[in-house]
Amino acid sequence: MNNFKGNKFQFKYTGAKLLLTAGLSLTIAVGCSQTNSPKEEKKEMPVQTTQTTSAESPKMNTEQSKDPEKKELTQSEKNDEQTKVETEKKSAKAADQSSEGAVKNSENVPADTPNNLLEQRKIMIPVTDISAVLPEELYQKLKEIDFADFNLDADNPKQIKDINSLYVLANKANYFPEDFKPQNLVVPAIPFSFSGENEKKYLQQPAADAITLLINGAANEGIAISGVSGYRSIARQKVIYKYNVDNYGQSHADKYSAKPQYSEHHTGLCMDVSSASVGFDLVEKYGNTKEGKWLAENAHKYGFVIRYPKGKEEITGYSYEPWHIRYLGVELATFLYNHGLCYEEFIAGFQQITAGEPEMIKAEESEGKENTEAKDQPENKEQPENKEQVEAKEQTESQKQ
Ligand code: DAL
Ligand code: ZN
Repeated sequence: MNNFKGNKFQFKYTGAKLLLTAGLSLTIAVGCSQTNSPKEEKKEMPVQTTQTTSAESPKMNTEQSKDPEKKELTQSEKNDEQTKVETEKKSAKAADQSSEGAVKNSENVPADTPNNLLEQRKIMIPVTDISAVLPEELYQKLKEIDFADFNLDADNPKQIKDINSLYVLANKANYFPEDFKPQNLVVPAIPFSFSGENEKKYLQQPAADAITLLINGAANEGIAISGVSGYRSIARQKVIYKYNVDNYGQSHADKYSAKPQYSEHHTGLCMDVSSASVGFDLVEKYGNTKEGKWLAENAHKYGFVIRYPKGKEEITGYSYEPWHIRYLGVELATFLYNHGLCYEEFIAGFQQITAGEPEMIKAEESEGKENTEAKDQPENKEQPENKEQVEAKEQTESQKQ
């Protein structure tokens, strides 16, 4: 039986609670962008509609894609580099050069896609009532985690407290300390799109074990997936982000590339993956390949989620990235998959439960969807008996009418 009692969380999430009670959605601005100087803000790059690709940074022609670490050069070196780029245009692009920080991008980004919604610098985090569908076992496991400390207000980014948690939230509202480096980094026994020693091969042990199973599981079904970019140090993200801002503008960079200290890649719990079918690039069209489709439908079975799903751009703060998978464990990843939630949405819903505030209970927009999804849940789900929860549910029902 569930026991969704209010606990310590309800006293810790005051700021967000005020916002939550103000309406059906928590509306927050993309705070990272707003910390920039006005000068930086002016750097805009129009959305391209040409054949380009997206990855950790804004759009650019694939042929122009270079590891941005190579961009910290003197003018003379830059000239040499330009010559080199021209030369390389004639050769097949090396996967390890083309796929990481420097983005490429977006074969299909019409002018009115959700990407453009990000121009408004607003993130909407709908508060979904998950209390009736959250499996008891998962709730019991997660209530030990201080989800209330996960910040959802990108207007006021906060330094992450539990930096080593498997469930750590790294996004535009939560950043790592400058000297953060995860523990237990290992190289998973998987194929990579590049060769040689590189920090981007590393993942934390649990994620490394899980991605090995995922890639072997895919291979058993005739699906070939390779690792492209896992752990990323804050120093490297600095180079990547600067490169993207310098070349594509602040606004555009912020849709594809995290600021240093804000990247989920710092966790060692996520990996960009790709396949030969798209030249090991990190491109939106990967989502339409058989490998990308397999990933979207099966990643949760191995504990991963597509972290930046299509349609959730206003919530995650980033454009659709069908290649970026984040390890959250099989139970939670499966829950997110079954209910079509991204991680921020789950956290907002979980915070609502742990806060135990009846007035914060908000109905999900689609009852039909919820009912359909609920049938996939284990039988052990009982209605909460906690008085506050019962009242909250009653209030929710009356709001729906
Ligand atoms: N591409 C993701 C958002 C990152 O830069 O971490
Ligand atoms: Zn990524």
